[in-house]
Amino acid sequence: MNHAITLNDGVQIPAVGFGTFLIPPDGSTYTAVLEALQAGYRHIDTATAYYNEEEVGKAVRDSDIPREEIFITSKLWVSHFGYERAKIGIDRSLKKLGMDYMDLYLLHQPYGDVAGAWKALEEAKQAGKIRSIGVSNMTPKIWNTYVPQFSVIPSVNQIECNPYAQQKVIREIMSTSDVKVECWGPLGQGSKELLTNAQITAIGEKYGKNAGQVILRFEVQEGMIVLPKSTNPERIKSNLNIFDFTLTEDEMNIMRSLDTGKTKHDPDAPGVGEYLITNYPIED
Ligand code: A2P
Repeated sequence: MNHAITLNDGVQIPAVGFGTFLIPPDGSTYTAVLEALQAGYRHIDTATAYYNEEEVGKAVRDSDIPREEIFITSKLWVSHFGYERAKIGIDRSLKKLGMDYMDLYLLHQPYGDVAGAWKALEEAKQAGKIRSIGVSNMTPKIWNTYVPQFSVIPSVNQIECNPYAQQKVIREIMSTSDVKVECWGPLGQGSKELLTNAQITAIGEKYGKNAGQVILRFEVQEGMIVLPKSTNPERIKSNLNIFDFTLTEDEMNIMRSLDTGKTKHDPDAPGVGEYLITNYPIED
């Protein structure tokens, strides 16, 4: 049901994961994650700064699906960067999730003492607390600043990616080390313009698929991992239902031609790190 991708450290990850950014920790995350697990998702993406790790963990436990059948990703927040702080942040995530390991753990945003935090992730991987480690929101400039210093190459870089923002430059850099792209906002964060694009809906008509399914199928066929997010049960189901059709090379080229080369979020912009640390406070 959910095509597996092999990461550069040999760990297998389901190509479609359920995204939980902005789903509040008021019971909504619990309900949505349980719905997703019942619909067949076996990959859930959360983060310290989504404030909903506890509800993700509870939904996983209450699903009665064995823990090892579900791939869990969380992320270290910038307030826990630096080697010593990161060790605290990793244990904090494990505790909130109520789990003794995470399948993937990412440096959520590339600001502050990135190298120190990464060293702590490398050690936690060694210690069996995390199976795979990765980064997020790294542009070519940020990637080239930090990654050459790392002892262990990241398994993924989770970045904004959708048909209007295909991230071709960083994807090219990452492909040389077989680092997989994870797309956040794979549906353009619900962009109406994208989801009603006439070229995309025309492709969908041929297969009896909606625009969201065509977009996700395109991204997966490009070799990327996608993290669509929804709190609507029908859309939760439909976003996973993309493995019974294949886009032709012509259709892939139509999708590729939609790229504008621009993203909404610019991690290179001045002040982004300071903005994030001020606006997403995390208690220890
Ligand atoms: P909803 O929760 O009402 O389904 P992204 O995954 O790119 O961040 O997009 C998430 C947004 O897109 C949410 O607002 C979600 O709203 C909406 N959404 C999710 N799946 C679909 C879909 N298949 N078609 C249209 N909108 C969708």
